[in-house]
Amino acid sequence: MSDAAAPDGGRETGGRANIGVVGLAVMGSNLARNLASRAGNTVAVWNRSPERTQLLVAEHPEAGFVAAESIDDFVASLARPRTAIIMVQAGAGTDAVIAQLAARFEPGDIIVDGGNANFVDTIRRERELRERGLDFVGAGISGGEEGALRGPSIMPGGSAEAYRTLGPILASIAAVAEGEPCVTHVGTDGAGHFVKMIHNGIEYADMQLIAESFDLLRRVGGHDVKAIADVFAAWNRGDLESYLIEITAEVLRQTDDRTGLPLVDVIVDEAGSKGTGVWTVQNAVGLGVPVSGIGEAVFARAVSSKSAQRAAVRRVVHSRPAVQQAPESFEDDVRAALYASKVVAYAQGFDAIVAGARQYGWDIDLGAVATIWRGGCIIRARFLNRIVEAYARNPDLETLLADDYFAEAVARGEDAWRRIVSTAALSGVPAPGFSSALAYYDALCSERLPAALIQGQRDFFGAHTYRRIDAEGVFHTLWSADRSEIATEPSSH
Ligand code: 6PG
Repeated sequence: MSDAAAPDGGRETGGRANIGVVGLAVMGSNLARNLASRAGNTVAVWNRSPERTQLLVAEHPEAGFVAAESIDDFVASLARPRTAIIMVQAGAGTDAVIAQLAARFEPGDIIVDGGNANFVDTIRRERELRERGLDFVGAGISGGEEGALRGPSIMPGGSAEAYRTLGPILASIAAVAEGEPCVTHVGTDGAGHFVKMIHNGIEYADMQLIAESFDLLRRVGGHDVKAIADVFAAWNRGDLESYLIEITAEVLRQTDDRTGLPLVDVIVDEAGSKGTGVWTVQNAVGLGVPVSGIGEAVFARAVSSKSAQRAAVRRVVHSRPAVQQAPESFEDDVRAALYASKVVAYAQGFDAIVAGARQYGWDIDLGAVATIWRGGCIIRARFLNRIVEAYARNPDLETLLADDYFAEAVARGEDAWRRIVSTAALSGVPAPGFSSALAYYDALCSERLPAALIQGQRDFFGAHTYRRIDAEGVFHTLWSADRSEIATEPSSH
């Protein structure tokens, strides 16, 4: 099956494939097929277990794959400079494949990791491979199986030089939104995987807000599942238009063959996760960025999975009756709360990108990130166009919530948002995404925050000092003496 010999046969140019894919599970296979379908690409494929390779090649003769039976075969089938995209499960598997390729690749060759790797690993791998003269590019790829096949949104990091070779190949397979391919060189080393991690964090928040909307429409609005599917389908024709809203309507329309019930009612209500949402929160906490919307989404999945605790509490506490609302105005209120909370989630996600870029020395263009999220990825939405415009108006925007368009849009929905949060609380329907987003908004809008009191408490028990609103410097009150104030040095503990 090996086809390592190049048409011109030369050792100088290597094999005939301009790109290779390692790891042929669904994402890898689909990406390989996508690559093969674009003019000018010849794609080498290799998988640890050869059966998968054989199956892919047999099922897709049109792709003209160069199938390799061994890693040596695979490397020999690549034209120089060699470029291979790894699509294996993040973690130890990725390191193993990198080691195999790196042992055979030569300076100037490029290894791309298209999995959901932790950006810290990507930074390490890039450094190690650069020392050996190899380019390593961590590329976030979003869009699920369909996206990989038809056009994902791609977030590559790595060197600008590697992107010169890789960029055109990635642009050829990426989704296209408003005439532009959804790929950009996000920044050096781990920047691409960092931005993909934040993408996933926003995805978690978006999904949680949609799930809360569904729960409220059902338990307070009194709609049945089919009616809620229609509500989401209608919302998808307005400014909430997005992939996640669209598929929500599809999921809700699905009837279970076995029981005749809506499928959503027979799925166990414990949400899983593979970890990228947790990474987003862990990193944001370390960077001091409040990503409360993403945090609530991660925690809500965790709460859902605490089935023993849920059962124990339900045995002793009875749920309260929902406050009844007129279905139509309630629907509008939920829509407004969803929109406003979504703005908060994106604002927090972009804040985390800014903080990450500062911490790791990346030059990330926020407008470009919003641009490549408009198509192909899971969080693609009409809304992203407004974010692109906001950063075009002001690339140094302090927060999306300070942009004129978004400030106005959120203010317009504010009363509805408050009604939804209070109705949810009065009805005993958990809406952590909506309420924490509103609390965050209210914190940003407040002239004074009770953080002043916290500073006073810290100074009382730990001499942690505080600053005054009316004088420069740092102060401490002698709490256990005469309670006079002294100017002092900032506390280091
Ligand atoms: C994407 C998705 C993809 C994956 C998520 C699922 O952008 O294509 O985000 O990466 O489906 O990682 O994450 P959880 O299993 O953690 O929900």
